[in-house]
Amino acid sequence: MKLNIKGITIFVEDYYLSMSKKSAEIVSHQIANKPNSVLGLATGSTPEGMYKELIQLYLNKKVNFDNITSFNLDEYYPINKDNKNSYAYYMNSHLFNHVNIDKDKTFIPNGKTENVDKMCKEYDQMIYDVGGIDLQILGIGNNGHIGFNEPDVDFELTTHLVKLDDKTIEANARFFANIDDVPKFAVSMGIQNIMQSKKIILMASGEGKAKIIHDMIFGKVTPNLPASILQLHNNVTILLDKKAAKLIIN
Ligand code: F6R
Repeated sequence: MKLNIKGITIFVEDYYLSMSKKSAEIVSHQIANKPNSVLGLATGSTPEGMYKELIQLYLNKKVNFDNITSFNLDEYYPINKDNKNSYAYYMNSHLFNHVNIDKDKTFIPNGKTENVDKMCKEYDQMIYDVGGIDLQILGIGNNGHIGFNEPDVDFELTTHLVKLDDKTIEANARFFANIDDVPKFAVSMGIQNIMQSKKIILMASGEGKAKIIHDMIFGKVTPNLPASILQLHNNVTILLDKKAAKLIIN
């Protein structure tokens, strides 16, 4: 089912698998149209299926990552890139190790740097220098975060150090042996980095995301629900499974 609400294109797919295939299709079309695209990448559970589909498309010679540059949204801080819970490790194991992307052109905030401010500025500059992000992939936190832009009184604009919300720490504890092992901080692209992307796709699956999806589309734009800012972007596609779309379809 395809909807258009407030100028936002929304695809509602029956299941997580079909949602993942649809998002992989959008990414592969982007690459076909612009082989040297700059992709903004997300981690977490939601895009795992999309990455699996992209690997399949690559193995079937339907997509070529040869000229792709990528920037990940975020990374825990502090964390080593060979730690299994780092997003650097996630990207290698879920995508980069399985396709022909040039790893020298894949960028993830450095979770181990001693000079976070400098690293953040350099990250913004690198995004700027390649001409910005063509297609940004997003998930959404239960609290409405995108990247690790947590609910706040202001929007953080550029790449920055974030203190993670208790809700985020709780939600992400499932990946760690113990909740105390979840890093308390992360480095995240800011709202301006995300909003300057030429196109954005946001994915969500499962009933647990239904309320936040409803609120981000129908609520007012506020830094207290960071994803609500996407109402103001002119090229956003939201991909949902039926459960996540529960409150927006009748
Ligand atoms: C991950 C990220 C986060 C996740 C969000 C949803 O790079 O930026 O915003 O997209 O926390 O996570 P999942 O998909 O695990 O529900």
